Amino acid sequence: PALGVNSSGCRDIAQVLRENDKNYLVLFGSQTGTAEDYAKKFGKELTARFQLRVMVADLENYDFESLNELPDNMPVTFVISTYGEGDFPDGSVNFEQFLNELEEGDDSLGNLRFSIFGLGNTTYEFFDGAARKALDKLQNAGANLIGKLGEGDDGAGTTDEDYMTWKEETIDLLQKELGLHEDENKEYQPSFIFTQMNEITDKTSLGEPSKQYLPSETLQYDVDGKQRGPFDLNQPFVAPIVESHELFQSPERNCIHTEFDISGSEITYETGDHLAIWPSNSNETVAQFLKVFQLNPDEIFDLKAKDTTMKLPFLSPTTIGAVVRYYLEITGPISRQSLGLLVNYAPVTIKEHVTRLSKDKELFAAELLKPKYNLADALLKLNQGEPWKNVPWLLLIEMLPKLLPRYYSISSSSLSEPQTIHATSIVENTANEITGINTTGVTTNLLRNISLSRTNDKFSEIEAMPVHYDLNGPRNLFADSRLPIHVRHSTFRLPKSSNVPIIMIGPGTGVAPFRGFIRERCAQVNKENVDVKTLGKMILFYGSRDNNDYLYKDEWIEYGKILEDKFEIDVALSRVQEQKIYVQHRIMDRKSEITDLLNKGAHIYVCGDAGRMAKDVQGSIVQILSESKSITETEAQEIVKAMKVAGKYQEDIW
Ligand code: 2AM
Repeated sequence: PALGVNSSGCRDIAQVLRENDKNYLVLFGSQTGTAEDYAKKFGKELTARFQLRVMVADLENYDFESLNELPDNMPVTFVISTYGEGDFPDGSVNFEQFLNELEEGDDSLGNLRFSIFGLGNTTYEFFDGAARKALDKLQNAGANLIGKLGEGDDGAGTTDEDYMTWKEETIDLLQKELGLHEDENKEYQPSFIFTQMNEITDKTSLGEPSKQYLPSETLQYDVDGKQRGPFDLNQPFVAPIVESHELFQSPERNCIHTEFDISGSEITYETGDHLAIWPSNSNETVAQFLKVFQLNPDEIFDLKAKDTTMKLPFLSPTTIGAVVRYYLEITGPISRQSLGLLVNYAPVTIKEHVTRLSKDKELFAAELLKPKYNLADALLKLNQGEPWKNVPWLLLIEMLPKLLPRYYSISSSSLSEPQTIHATSIVENTANEITGINTTGVTTNLLRNISLSRTNDKFSEIEAMPVHYDLNGPRNLFADSRLPIHVRHSTFRLPKSSNVPIIMIGPGTGVAPFRGFIRERCAQVNKENVDVKTLGKMILFYGSRDNNDYLYKDEWIEYGKILEDKFEIDVALSRVQEQKIYVQHRIMDRKSEITDLLNKGAHIYVCGDAGRMAKDVQGSIVQILSESKSITETEAQEIVKAMKVAGKYQEDIW
């Protein structure tokens, strides 16, 4: 939890607000940090425009018995993300519990005024389930909604615009409700106090992900070989990479297989879990950012929060260079919200244009979003390559999202590899058509750079590499092929009994968890003496473009030798013939077998692209069910929905 943690440890929400003299509350429930980011943005805007004294807090850190008795009857804004099958984020279970215990229609929250924004993904069955449930329960207990439920849809990629629309409406209403006046001469008021420092000491963070890595403690880590857990979103484990190679190479894409050693860390995982890898920004993107804002990476500074409800976004004291490289999300596409915050600092010659861009959704989309400019590239482009000299450093720290870990479906099995975690990632190497800028993923690229550096003596001379990292430079904390990681537990699980048949569908890197599943079955046979004959049938529908990008091609043959006729891989090569052949076509070709397996209680697993693939696959399963049972497609949809609820149709899609 980065915010709203009060040093007293008090969990009574009304009391903490009173003690810190706040008059507005924003509560977030975040799984990966996105809801937290929007909550912070919202709070910051209320502070900046109306001088409200906002507390932004994680639902995790409070109890809500006093929610109906907030000081001055202040309104609350909830920002809640949905996870899995319509679930609340892990940290918000206490809040969900509180909601569940509210008596319907008893008016126990009759004093509460609230607004709510949910973050979700329409490609999932239970879109925005958590925020919708919260809204329902709060209203049933008499709480008064201000405005409408806002819903950000990551599936359509419109979260930013959905937020902007909701926010504009909600703030208008709040202005009326609270009689707020906007001060046109407002000046940016940082939430932190900045102090320049003269020298680096052993207290200076150079990008450490948490306290335990500060230099003196790093030494301790090195000596006894142990870092202290638990390792989670607040604190990763710096894991040695013990194996890393490219699974295939092509001009546009590379696929990297990476193995992390977790021995001695007390990290455990289960087959089907996710691995979080903590990235750092590349030399090129860091340089570009420093250039546009004219920042000196060597400047050392200390930050202090202005009150006890604010926690620092990173360890301090630190340097500007470390913050830009390790803590700030600087590669994502520029948002209209961020541009809006910078209007006041735009160079005079372009101020009018920047103002228009920040207000006009269409213009913004055409000029900046379509070419996928990140913040620095966009600002440089707008100012003809010249810097924006006046942007306060503290504003940048407050407005930019935290650099968050990226999640991968683990491709190993905890039974087969208890001490190693495998990840499979694809790097797209294509430059943007309009800008010529390469917008590859921050983590995948880092993994590829590590892979190349391990296998190539002339690493530094490789030209094909789009972005570079100081992999062994003096500034790299994770030199010698180490990266910070943690495990996130998922619900993507093999059936409890190994004799239940499984149908796995995973084109591209969607195959990752199924490699884990199959290795698990092999280990059951090899290590636990499970008789192959008792295993349920395992069909893997895999898809790739052609034979070149066919992942783990040789391995499947080896697994087949162990699992005999119980394992089968059915491959759809999409680009070796005129007509595209996809996994869903192969599924349709085998209707009767699929029907047969489903009748035997088979579980279905889908992993990979959420946008199209998962929907198309579900479509073909619905069609098979409807034909074989002579029912309507709507009825077949209901069966699939029930299977999902029962955990017999599981998706790990993104
Ligand atoms: P394509 O790129 O040739 O269109 C892994 O990415 C494989 O998934 C590729 O063969 C890709 O084919 C294929 N694929 C693309 N869109 C798909 C969809 N909607 N459903 C299933 N597979 C798809």
